[in-house]
Amino acid sequence: MKPLRKAIFPVAGMGTRFLPATKSVPKEMLTVVDRPVIDYAVREAVEAGCDTLIFITGRSKQAIANYFDRSPELENELEEKNKTEALEIVRNIIPSHVNCIYIRQAEPLGLGHAVHCGAPLVHPDEYFAVLLPDDLIDGYQKGALQQMNEVHERTGSSVIALEQVSWDEVSQYGVVAPKNEHQIPIELAGIVEKPKREDAPSNWTVVGRYILNGKIMQLLETTQRGAGGEIQLTDGISELLKTETILGVPFSGKRFDCGSKAGFLEANLHFGLGLLKRGGR
Ligand code: UTP
Repeated sequence: MKPLRKAIFPVAGMGTRFLPATKSVPKEMLTVVDRPVIDYAVREAVEAGCDTLIFITGRSKQAIANYFDRSPELENELEEKNKTEALEIVRNIIPSHVNCIYIRQAEPLGLGHAVHCGAPLVHPDEYFAVLLPDDLIDGYQKGALQQMNEVHERTGSSVIALEQVSWDEVSQYGVVAPKNEHQIPIELAGIVEKPKREDAPSNWTVVGRYILNGKIMQLLETTQRGAGGEIQLTDGISELLKTETILGVPFSGKRFDCGSKAGFLEANLHFGLGLLKRGGR
């Protein structure tokens, strides 16, 4: 089995929940302490071994590409001023062996459609990762994707990250039907996007981390609009489940929903307090 190397970051969403800030700043560039939200997901992917980062972007998202580009003028200026610590930070945003590729999603037709925009770069027999930067995860001892990749390498299966939420919240998420929820990793019997509470097959919900068989790209080609009138990744995964085993991994770590104001503030408090405890300023 080939090692996991490619990671797709769908970042073409409108970010309406953060208006007016997102009128000019992509929500992925809002900062949690001193790093943009997207930086955390990128580090997690690189830590898990990915060296090809595919960003599915949309209008007014240029700031993301600028952030991951080298910046010779800034680097020269910092060097001349002997600001070595700042220079190191700017130079080490991503390691030099990592490539960033940007694809435009011309119309925001949904997460499944966004992932499918990466199809020309994914071979049907390779596994690739999808990371939704809104879900910022402070992994316990290692990153969530790394934890999932260990399960993927051991089993050869597609893997998705799971979290158990209160039954009041299930209708906001993709929800899985576990074959046996006491056996970890949890084998999926089904998956459904944003079900009503009374229809939800469990309270195990999908977190924005996936390792998927490249075959899903072909399935997404014909996936019809689903919940919210959008082409849903969950529906593609449901199709994939008809032909292969998919495992759910309840990762160890803390997740913050940085797509919401409350989650974003909580993430800032969590990482900010961590910095203060270490004596940082
Ligand atoms: P959300 O459903 O959170 O949508 O997308 P959004 O537009 O980003 O945010 P709000 O609700 O307007 O505030 C979940 C993820 O899927 C991506 C988003 O960028 C986000 O990472 N996405 C969604 C796309 O890339 N394209 C789409 O068509 C839809």
